[in-house]
Amino acid sequence: MLTGKKIIVGVTGSIAAYKAALLVRLLVKEGANVRVVMTDSATRFVSALTFSNLSQKEVFKGLWDGTWTEHVHLGTWADMMVIAPCTANTISKMSNGICDDALTAVYLSARCPVYIAPAMDADMFLHPSTTRNIDRLIVDGVRVFQPETGFLASGLHGKGRLAEPETIFEQLKQDFSSGTSNIDASKKVYANGNAPSLPLAGIKILISAGPTREHLDPVRFLTNGSTGTMGYALAAQAKKLGAAVTLVSGPCNPNIDPGVTPVTITSAEELFVAVTTRAPQQDVVIMTAAVADYTPSKPSNHKIKKKDGELSIPVERTRDILQYLGSNKPDGQILVGFALETQNELDSARQKLKSKNLDFIVLNSLAEKGAGFGPSTNKVTLIDRDGGHHEFPLKDKTEVAKDILNHLATIIS
Ligand code: CTP
Repeated sequence: MLTGKKIIVGVTGSIAAYKAALLVRLLVKEGANVRVVMTDSATRFVSALTFSNLSQKEVFKGLWDGTWTEHVHLGTWADMMVIAPCTANTISKMSNGICDDALTAVYLSARCPVYIAPAMDADMFLHPSTTRNIDRLIVDGVRVFQPETGFLASGLHGKGRLAEPETIFEQLKQDFSSGTSNIDASKKVYANGNAPSLPLAGIKILISAGPTREHLDPVRFLTNGSTGTMGYALAAQAKKLGAAVTLVSGPCNPNIDPGVTPVTITSAEELFVAVTTRAPQQDVVIMTAAVADYTPSKPSNHKIKKKDGELSIPVERTRDILQYLGSNKPDGQILVGFALETQNELDSARQKLKSKNLDFIVLNSLAEKGAGFGPSTNKVTLIDRDGGHHEFPLKDKTEVAKDILNHLATIIS
């Protein structure tokens, strides 16, 4: 199962560091290609020599050892990374993106699934900051081996003992064989036990994204500049937060999160059908799609030939999907709209929120540099039903998605 698999074993400064030697041994025996990365404190418990002998490879323990890009090479090389034992200190650094040692720098560079097996004293494990940091890592996609309860090195009894190396080993093997190690973050709950609750766990969300195309003839269409980036980012983040996500998308290219259910459409009418037939079963509907307001009244079956003089193409109104959803909203459903405005922004967005019966609306302004269609960043203001609004600075669209979903989670809770 593990033959030839490239696995990084990270070891941090815990009394349980000696158990990592057993884990390395089990992995190597199974045919894995193991590289060990140690923190400075870990070397106080077990020597690097032990791990270099077991792995038959040099141990990476200093950012300044070898080439200074070693952490990047290791991060991109690995099929899997497991940090066992992982101390409260390293967990805290990982959850905050601090990378002041070889191990945390490799973690930030890792493109593979990452596991941690926390080990610490019971009170440290139960401390709200440790809980917060672990939850954050889970949302970031890290899988966590829940520690065991028992006697601790301090003499206390409680939860904090490193999961047994055999348990970790068996789970890694199983995940490799089932492909679970590549699953999306929402499933990355405790690898060997109870799931901590993710803020959108069990919530069904439908998100629409991208532009629509209204054909004049078989080769030409009316459309807009939407790239779909905002809607796709929302879908990926909602999935990470535990939601079951359906993404109804017009023609655009962002990568779709593999855990999201895709539905593709072309025209505003197709979008109407795709959304309104699915909406009644959803807890939340978020319309980020840039829907064409008009469509050619009589699209030609053949390519329109050019002639001298002006050309007029009669167009007619498409249906307002959000308006329809607002008028037919099931009890308890949360409806979120987007508004792209160029003037009287707040007032116009508030009007849309009211007329479409929304729970909140996301205003993005085209007046802001780096916001709206196209750029990877956006600057939004969230406006609530009671008229209150929250303005956010210019951010990457993934971060904007997190802000919007945090707001949603607050409303739900
Ligand atoms: N929307 C929709 N159906 C349409 C048009 C818009 O569901 N036919 C949704 C969009 O997905 C967005 C919200 O309505 O969530 C506001 O879209 P926007 O283009 O800002 O405004 P419009 O409602 O089209 O109004 P106007 O063109 O007058 O600004």
